[in-house]
Amino acid sequence: MEGAAIQGDSRDNLIIQKACELVGKFDWIITSPPYYGLRTYLPDQWIRNWFLGGPSVVDYTSEGQLSHNGRDRFIADLRQVWANVGARCRPGATLVIRFGSIGDRLVEDPAQLVSASLEETGWVTTEILHADNAARGRRQADTFHRKRSAPYDEVDVWAKWRP
Ligand SMILES: C[S@@+](CC[C@H](N)C(=O)[O-])C[C@H]1O[C@@H](n2cnc3c(N)ncnc32)[C@H](O)[C@@H]1O
Repeated sequence: MEGAAIQGDSRDNLIIQKACELVGKFDWIITSPPYYGLRTYLPDQWIRNWFLGGPSVVDYTSEGQLSHNGRDRFIADLRQVWANVGARCRPGATLVIRFGSIGDRLVEDPAQLVSASLEETGWVTTEILHADNAARGRRQADTFHRKRSAPYDEVDVWAKWRP
C-alpha cells in the first residue's frame, strides 16, 4: 500500500480530507498529541530543523499547534481532531492515543483528559492500557540534570469508530 506524509494542522478538516484523497479511508489512527501544557515542540526542535534546511531563527509562535490555553480549550481542540479523522474512517476503525503528563500541568489523570476529548465524537473508548514511562534510555538527558525527576506514567487509550 502507498503511503503519504502531509504537514498540516489536524484541526483543519481540509488537511484530513487531503490525506484521505491520497490514501483512501483510514482503518487505523495511531497518534500522540502534545501532552497538556507542552507548548514548545517547535521551538525545541529548531536546531534539527535548521540542520535540515529550516530557518536559522527560532519560531516562538504557536500557529497550527493545539491550544494549551486552559483545559477546556485543549480538550475542544482534541475533540475537533478526533471528529475530523473519524469522518474519514471506515466503520469499526481503531484509534490509539499515547498520552501522558508534564510536571507543571499535572492536573488530573491523563486518561481522564483523553476520555473527555473523545466524548460525542463518534469514538468509543474500548481500553486504557498503562504504557510505562520514558525513563529508559534517558541517560544522556540525565547527565545535564542537577536534580533528576521521575517521568510520569503514560497511557494508551484505544477507541473504536462507532458513529
Ligand atoms: C508528542 S508529539 C508526537 C510526535 C510524533 N508522534 C513522532 O513520533 O514524531 C506531538 C506533535 O503534535 C504536533 N502538533 C501540535 N498541534 C498540532 C496540530 N494542530 N496539528 C498537527 N500536529 C500538531 C506537535 O508539533 C508535535 O510534533
